[in-house]
Amino acid sequence: MSALFSPLQIGAITFKNRIVVSPMCEYSSENGFANDWHLVHLGSRAVGGAGLIITEAAAVSPEGRISPQDLGIWDDAHITKLLNITTFIKAQGAAAGIQLAHAGRKSSTSVPWKGMKLISPENGGWKEIHAPSAIPFSEHYGMPIALTADGIKKVVADFKAAAKRSLEAGFQVIEIHAAHGYLIHEFLSPLSNHRTDEYGGSFENRIKVLLEIIAAIREVWPSDHPLFVRISATDWAEGGWNLEESTKLAMILKEKGVDLIDCSSGGLASHQKITVGPLYQTPFAEHIRKETGIKTGAVGLITTAQEAESIIADKKADLVIMARELLRDPYFPLHAAHVLHDESVVWPIQYERAKPRH
Ligand SMILES: Cc1cc2nc3c(=O)[nH]c(=O)nc-3n(C[C@H](O)[C@H](O)[C@H](O)COP(=O)(O)O)c2cc1C
Repeated sequence: MSALFSPLQIGAITFKNRIVVSPMCEYSSENGFANDWHLVHLGSRAVGGAGLIITEAAAVSPEGRISPQDLGIWDDAHITKLLNITTFIKAQGAAAGIQLAHAGRKSSTSVPWKGMKLISPENGGWKEIHAPSAIPFSEHYGMPIALTADGIKKVVADFKAAAKRSLEAGFQVIEIHAAHGYLIHEFLSPLSNHRTDEYGGSFENRIKVLLEIIAAIREVWPSDHPLFVRISATDWAEGGWNLEESTKLAMILKEKGVDLIDCSSGGLASHQKITVGPLYQTPFAEHIRKETGIKTGAVGLITTAQEAESIIADKKADLVIMARELLRDPYFPLHAAHVLHDESVVWPIQYERAKPRH
């Protein structure tokens, strides 16, 4: 058996292999509701053989959406369709995960294919955009209002309520979105957090919101159900959040009941300088895993079976998290098994006659 197709158990959940569908916003919801697009999009990747399917960023409140078309889980009414989707995913032998998110100062925009432009309240945008401090992401985004202490309490309560609904909707994994310049990341980074209260300034203060969210989620999310946190391991900008702070954070999160760090990067500073290339973020996953002993997921420009296999075989990460290649090819895992000559991988019974023979 290849390393890529070896199972991984975290708590009560066993992933049949190490390939994960990375969260990908579909901007195809109305009022936060999942629909048949989500069922087919996520379901076909479960049929394609991924071990864990994580939904796109699901907003914990209406104002926590990036756009009016984002998926949401702020209302009990959202649960029914999500349960339908998780039931299908699990029937394919895959695990179902949900990414819980608040977009912070990068919210109230149009969808990417309409330019991701700021939408005013008159055109369906938010009356208020919330962030740690009143600093916009760039001149093309809205001016946020600094959250009050009560505002922060509401955000924490929203994440907790969303976690409870996630369990009712049949999800087995929660991933907290603390990356890409959205609300939690905005608290972490000194570039976007200029607060002078207990949530700003020192490293300990900047990570406080995330720790409160984790504690609140763990009150309702069973201890044997995996909890992941996606971070941006670096802001790729002078004076920003960096790998050293990420490593320190990962050590603390390990003690707080987080099972895995999904190591992404960037998205916080509009002046970031990133050099991208194959596997460009994998060194972050490798570093954090080695330094802290916590499980990590590698993500970013992983596109071939050999690359994915080497990440697991060389113990650079515990999971390979893939986005665009899985859009190009929902059956990437089944194809990868063939490339790696792994005969242990079972095809969906309905497709069995199409399985390539060596
Ligand atoms: C269409 C699309 C939507 C995305 N939406 C999200 C999202 O909801 N949450 C998130 O954390 N990352 C999101 N991302 C980033 C991906 O999860 C992933 O980290 C990134 O694309 C790099 O992986 P890749 O090179 O395999 O595509 C999105 C990426 C794409 C292409």
